Amino acid sequence: MTHFTDKVVLITGAGGGIGRHYALEFARRGARVVVNDLGSDVRGESGGEDSAAAVVREIEAEGGTAVSNTASVTDREGAASIVRTGLDTWGRIDIVVTNAGILRNRTLKNTNLDDMTAVLNVHVLGTLNVVYAAWPYLYAQNSGRIVLTSSISGIAGAFGQSAYATAKMAMLGLMNSLALEGQAHGIHVNCIAPGAATRMTALETALGIDAENPEPDFHPKLIAPAVLYLASGAAPNGVVLHAQGGKFWRTKTVRNRGVDLGTDATFEELAEHIEPIMDMTAMDDVQPAM
Ligand SMILES: NC(=O)c1ccc[n+]([C@@H]2O[C@H](COP(=O)([O-])OP(=O)(O)OC[C@H]3O[C@@H](n4cnc5c(N)ncnc54)[C@H](O)[C@@H]3O)[C@@H](O)[C@H]2O)c1
Repeated sequence: MTHFTDKVVLITGAGGGIGRHYALEFARRGARVVVNDLGSDVRGESGGEDSAAAVVREIEAEGGTAVSNTASVTDREGAASIVRTGLDTWGRIDIVVTNAGILRNRTLKNTNLDDMTAVLNVHVLGTLNVVYAAWPYLYAQNSGRIVLTSSISGIAGAFGQSAYATAKMAMLGLMNSLALEGQAHGIHVNCIAPGAATRMTALETALGIDAENPEPDFHPKLIAPAVLYLASGAAPNGVVLHAQGGKFWRTKTVRNRGVDLGTDATFEELAEHIEPIMDMTAMDDVQPAM
């Protein structure tokens, strides 16, 4: 379970932050890593910094194996090129970690649709582009692991992050559906919900943490153990795992038992029974729609 010898791992946005640590940790366990990053700033605006190549050099300096890719995940061809880089270099792909992300925090009152669209493009369409390109290969070989990147911001909401939260909750919808579609083909799809001091998080400013020199409680290397688990042979399927500062926990969607008001149900009857309808004392798992 703790070895990834010769597995081919694609990691998007791995030129810095949390993703860089995934790349280093996979490579330290024998995996061959495609390090993707277009080298943008945190808003996804300026680019061109060859951060992916720098991480490849770090891996190689430790005796590991990696190759860089600088495509943007928002570009369909670019996303496909990340998959092709793995196939052309090593003839296979095994694990896909969609981690690339940008942030443009503003309340809905103060944001604009261009910023919201940019956030959705990178997180939602960028993830779909990569997963779509990788899926046929994982499907055909009857094995694969996909780790999508969600966030507590999506699961519980975050002030000033309406577009980002929309995108991060979308990862749960994608995971839930692909977990069903991949099950019979040995493909497991899970979500990581990280918490770490990187240039992306407001933690630096809010808590006075230096992203270049993070406190142990928020170190970005502490997300990798959970992602490696979700990418391992022992991975579950359709699970959201949280990681922050060495703490790991799981969230899942539950429902209460509900009330059956019959096929003549009216608004007035619902209002009359609202207490048991809203009560969450007894809970069950939510079952797939089909
Ligand atoms: N840091 C946290 O606490 C936290 C919390 C929840 C979720 N996340 C998520 O974790 C992931 C990594 O975030 P991070 O904190 O390491 O931030 P980061 O900004 O350090 O890393 C994100 C990386 O993605 C790259 N990137 C951006 N747009 C890209 C594109 N179109 N194509 C390819 N690469 C692109 C950036 O260049 C950057 O290197 C993101 O998806 C983020 O939303 C982070």
